[in-house]
Amino acid sequence: MSAFNIQEFSARRHRLMQLMGNGIAIVPTAPEVIRNRDSHYPYRFDSYFYYLTGFKEPEAVVVLIAEQSKSILFCRDKDMEREIWDGFRYGADAARETFGFDEAYSISELDAVMTKLLANQPKLYFSLGESPVWDQRITSWLNVLRTQARAGISVPDDIADVRKLLDEMRLYKSPFELALMQRSADIAAGAHNRAMQFTRPGQMEYEVEAEFLHEFYRNGAQAPAYTSIVASGANACTLHYNANNTQIKDGDLLLIDAGCELDGYASDITRTFPANGRFTAPQKDLYELVLSAQAAAIAQVNPTQHWNAPHEAALDVLIQGFIDLKLCRGSKEAVLDSGAYRQFYMHRTGHWLGLDVHDAGEYQSKSDGKKAGAHTWRKLEPGMSLTVEPGCYVRPAENVPEHFWNIGIRIEDDVLVTTDGCKVLTEKAVKTVSEIEALMRH
Ligand code: GLY
Ligand code: MN
Ligand code: MN
Repeated sequence: MSAFNIQEFSARRHRLMQLMGNGIAIVPTAPEVIRNRDSHYPYRFDSYFYYLTGFKEPEAVVVLIAEQSKSILFCRDKDMEREIWDGFRYGADAARETFGFDEAYSISELDAVMTKLLANQPKLYFSLGESPVWDQRITSWLNVLRTQARAGISVPDDIADVRKLLDEMRLYKSPFELALMQRSADIAAGAHNRAMQFTRPGQMEYEVEAEFLHEFYRNGAQAPAYTSIVASGANACTLHYNANNTQIKDGDLLLIDAGCELDGYASDITRTFPANGRFTAPQKDLYELVLSAQAAAIAQVNPTQHWNAPHEAALDVLIQGFIDLKLCRGSKEAVLDSGAYRQFYMHRTGHWLGLDVHDAGEYQSKSDGKKAGAHTWRKLEPGMSLTVEPGCYVRPAENVPEHFWNIGIRIEDDVLVTTDGCKVLTEKAVKTVSEIEALMRH
């Protein structure tokens, strides 16, 4: 762990304790999950826990005590027997040193130490409701303390959701995070370009998926950020298609939604291209439409705009295109108001991106002066990162010109809001018709 950035993670813990003001926060990492019999799913740490610690081992909990500005890690013991089977473990002492905690204990001491740490704390920050196991365990610590009331020990009166504070912090990416996100984006963009060069009609979708996995792993990404979608022909009209087991036909478009995870950070890219390297006229009409909707949406990603502006801009372009191409009838306003466009565009234009592919953070903010429950879209601010991913999915239907049937297109990039506009992190993945056709010719 030579490159581990102690300051970055310790600054996050201190920031959280500042936001808490007082009280104690408890953030456990994710459990290991059995897949079948003795095999586990690949382990993935909890994103909140990782954000605060940089610590990737399972069976760990971080505890922050705001008034003392103290951070404490609980983790697995060193254990030569287990390490022979499963690999290296830090153990409490080395973890404290390496990751910069004030104190560290064996996870086996958690119950005993926590009942002491919780005593007389005014407020408990925890993600109540996330895991019944942790809800019950923490409740049991509070109950132990309640039996000590006559000895003058008090139990926190207040329980607050620690995720509320962490979500806001996670929304604004630091330079350290952005370097990882850019690297994650570069690896995924390279994989999309590689897929365009590799693909030929007659291959199976899973052969193309294998190109992605190879490109991700050989560049040091630890995993795909989500299950890759490799959808040829009509499969592209199933939004979450991931069987990836169809033979790719001559004349098909191939929609690929695939990104990787690098040190926790996701990239999320979709490209759609013709398997044989040449768009047909109807494919090109719809492709150019989605591409111009995406350009209009990206132009709205800047600090003068709110969260929904890119979606509104994409919809405006798509609806006009649907009318021009005779997919929708009537005026733009009528198609928007009736929602008729949803036959072809039924999802939103993006989401926050970071440690989670659909990252933490509110999309709306409570608006002052409006009645209770009223919200407005939050403003975009420098450091926020999001995807911009309009699409168009045409299933066979009587009201649809037949030459568009079974065409599914999405174009997705990862974008960072900057002080004067935005930066497209995934711009290395080619996406104009001429760039794609040129790349596929070689
Ligand atoms: N790949 C998931 C998404 O695009 O939201
Ligand atoms: Mn996405
Ligand atoms: Mn995606």
